[in-house]
Amino acid sequence: MKEFIKSFPKVELHTHLNGCIREETLNKWHKNKEVTKYIDSFMSPETNSKEAMENCFKSFDLIYEATTTLERIKQLTKEVLEDYDNENCIILEIRTSPRKLEGHSILDYYNSVIESFKEYLSSRNKKTPFYPYLLFSINRSKLEIGKETIDVANELRKNNNFVKGIELSGNPYRGDINKIIELMNYAKSINIPFTMHIAEKIDDDEMIKLIECKPLRMGHGIYVNEKGVELMNKYNIDCEICLTSNIVSRSIDKCDNHPIASNKKYKGKLFFCCDDKGLFRTCLTNELFIAINNYYKDLDESKQKNIIKKLCLDGINASFLEDNIKKELIEYVESYKL
Ligand code: IMP
Ligand code: ZN
Repeated sequence: MKEFIKSFPKVELHTHLNGCIREETLNKWHKNKEVTKYIDSFMSPETNSKEAMENCFKSFDLIYEATTTLERIKQLTKEVLEDYDNENCIILEIRTSPRKLEGHSILDYYNSVIESFKEYLSSRNKKTPFYPYLLFSINRSKLEIGKETIDVANELRKNNNFVKGIELSGNPYRGDINKIIELMNYAKSINIPFTMHIAEKIDDDEMIKLIECKPLRMGHGIYVNEKGVELMNKYNIDCEICLTSNIVSRSIDKCDNHPIASNKKYKGKLFFCCDDKGLFRTCLTNELFIAINNYYKDLDESKQKNIIKKLCLDGINASFLEDNIKKELIEYVESYKL
């Protein structure tokens, strides 16, 4: 089954650029040559959910100590595209939060990522379809540059095929809820598609308020309660599920306890994704394999293969790509032998 999943076309709808850094690249660029071992040491299994989450964010700070120049951001981007392309991903939605590196602007940061996309695609030899694109992240710890980020995304998407929307992420224990709502309402007012990390901590009031922003999709949804599920059904909000990430960050202890993926009342679509493939040492094939072995384990192999195909088709439809590209990709997947 794993070989089948690896070769079958796949869609990634939830992955953070810097969190995808290869271990070898992190070790090469970081001053501390033991950095990945250091990260392992504090991502230990003994912590509670809040501590584990804080430790994930400490890890991102260490990654940022390595990805310090625009040249490195371009190289990082190229490697992430290569890794997903090598496992036959056909849509790669990458999100990344704004940074001001070496005295450059947010626009320069995003232009470097886009340049790397262009270079990668123009030198690519594979004949299979591959559509990478970007979402600009509103970081909960840096809401003060949220509006600027949305404006840059809006400007760039007008003449650039790689910019498709925005998203909310960052440490769930940071950020003023009213400011977040204001930013999401602003995004809505200029019709820019968006998805949001919601319910990564226990806070029913915040969870409901964020769902009421009506994102097209939700990331994680770990602590969504019954009322939240009702609202997700009402507003047709699909869910990006990142199983390895949730287990490493102690949000769930096992896949059976994922409150959305294993919730019979939830009517939306599920997308199994990596979140941070470098930090969590996973890949898209692995995430789908875990999903099949947990949520579809009682089906025979041919039905499991059909599930992989359905997940791919659902992902194509839920992507922020244009309708003609979706149509092309659906035809490609439909023609693929199971
Ligand atoms: P970047 O946006 O490319 O710099 O990727 C890393 C950033 O993604 C982190 O600093 C966080 O802000 C965000 N991020 C990655 N994983 C998570 C998550 O599970 N929850 C919330 N934010 C996340
Ligand atoms: Zn995430």
